Amino acid sequence: MAQQAGRLAGKAAFITGAGGGLGEAIAKAMADEGANVGLLDYNGELVETAASNIPEGRGTPYTVDVSDRLAVKAAIDDFAERQGGLNILVNNAVSFNYGTLPDMAEDVVDHMLDVGLKGVFWSLQAATPHLIASKGGSIINLSSIAVSFAIKNAGIYTSIKGAIDALTRQQAGELGEYGITVNALAPGSVVTPGASSVISAESWKDRAASTMLKRLATPEEIAAAAVFLASDDARSITGVTLKIDAGVTIAGV
Ligand SMILES: NC(=O)c1ccc[n+]([C@@H]2O[C@H](COP(=O)([O-])OP(=O)(O)OC[C@H]3O[C@@H](n4cnc5c(N)ncnc54)[C@H](O)[C@@H]3O)[C@@H](O)[C@H]2O)c1
Repeated sequence: MAQQAGRLAGKAAFITGAGGGLGEAIAKAMADEGANVGLLDYNGELVETAASNIPEGRGTPYTVDVSDRLAVKAAIDDFAERQGGLNILVNNAVSFNYGTLPDMAEDVVDHMLDVGLKGVFWSLQAATPHLIASKGGSIINLSSIAVSFAIKNAGIYTSIKGAIDALTRQQAGELGEYGITVNALAPGSVVTPGASSVISAESWKDRAASTMLKRLATPEEIAAAAVFLASDDARSITGVTLKIDAGVTIAGV
């Protein structure tokens, strides 16, 4: 395999929920910067297609449910073994669902927690020993600016993302001595298949209008921030949640 150029040349990056939406964009952007990428998604068709779009065979698909602890470990171990180590983990997979709290069924809440929070625990458990063995690296967790608002009907989702922020700071403290940075990205509203399942076409327009920049970030812009946090340019940044929200969270009265 030819030596890659780019800010992530020679790095091995594992991304969960990489079959579509932001995860796919992040996998592509990291590969464009020279990384070899492992793409995990429970949707086999999506993840096979996403991996096949990564040039030069540098994308390896894993059809795995992120809530399956042992399967996540097997996938990450396999990827690290193939790559001779692991440098980057992106915890991105999510299960979106909105509803008033009294209406949220127990199985729906359990599933959201299993995917969006416990899935992050399982990926971290599996990846951390490889990152330490590789003498450091970067963990990037997908949070959301939803944490900063009282978004109607988003109680479970927002609670999960609040926990992700807390876990990001906690793990940054715990893993710093190993040269591992742990940061979060907090996108504003970004048009993706998952977000469109809970946000109407009309609401997308309102959301764009309510930002300072009068626009919504694209998946590629979120991916660019992930590349930055994974690159050596960000080696002194840890424990941070970086908002990419076109300024919506600074809106005044
Ligand atoms: N799109 C937004 O507006 C927005 C805003 C803020 C934060 N985020 C966060 O960004 C991340 C990505 O969001 P998105 O909009 O791209 O979502 P999406 O639903 O479009 O994509 C998520 C991907 O995860 C996969 N996935 C779902 N359940 C899985 C499971 N159990 N195991 C493995 N893979 C699974 C899906 O198949 C899909 O490919 C999420 O953590 C989300 O909370 C998104």
